[in-house]
Amino acid sequence: MNERNVSDRSVMINLAIVVGLLAAVVIGVLVFVAPKFEGEGYAVARGQAIYNANCASCHGADLQGAENWQVQGEDGSYPAPPHNGDGHTFHHPDSMLIDYIKRGGAVVLAEMGVDSVKSGMPAFGDVLDDGEIANVLDYIKSTWPEEARANQARLTAADEAAGGS
Ligand code: HEC
Repeated sequence: MNERNVSDRSVMINLAIVVGLLAAVVIGVLVFVAPKFEGEGYAVARGQAIYNANCASCHGADLQGAENWQVQGEDGSYPAPPHNGDGHTFHHPDSMLIDYIKRGGAVVLAEMGVDSVKSGMPAFGDVLDDGEIANVLDYIKSTWPEEARANQARLTAADEAAGGS
């Protein structure tokens, strides 16, 4: 073995180590980072498709709500409110939002003793399963400003701690 061969070999070994480390980094990224990113992106994209098919006709293609959504109509109903940061959706914990979506406004308002409002919000409990409703909320939340998201997450945590469901 001459000197040149030895240095060639050490170059090869160093190269192998570098390639090995790079591979470890790439695998680490794929295993630990990608699924999280893909998971959230997937939930939001799926929620958006479900929203477009079931909710956009009333709540607006851009979640902007119906025009004059704060003005009660002559029949006692309100137009659909926005679900972006302009509305009041983020003032409610998850349990209330899910309940409203599943059972619809008429049932929930009656249970709350509200008879001054005729609800225009249909029940989706027979149309969407729990996972689909969760994804619609993921999509709706993805459009809120950071502060609204944080506040609503706190409301939900407090509600869950109090046994809300
Ligand atoms: C036919 C029109 C219509 C459709 C379709 C509709 N909504 Fe609504 N929604 C309303 C109206 C009107 C209200 C306002 C409250 C009420 O009338 O009970 C409302 C209220 C809500 C609320 C509670 C109010 C709040 O705080 O923002 C949530 C949550 C909601 N809708 C989610 C959805 C989701 C999710 C879908 C699709 C799966 C959907 N809605 C489809 C009309 C509709």
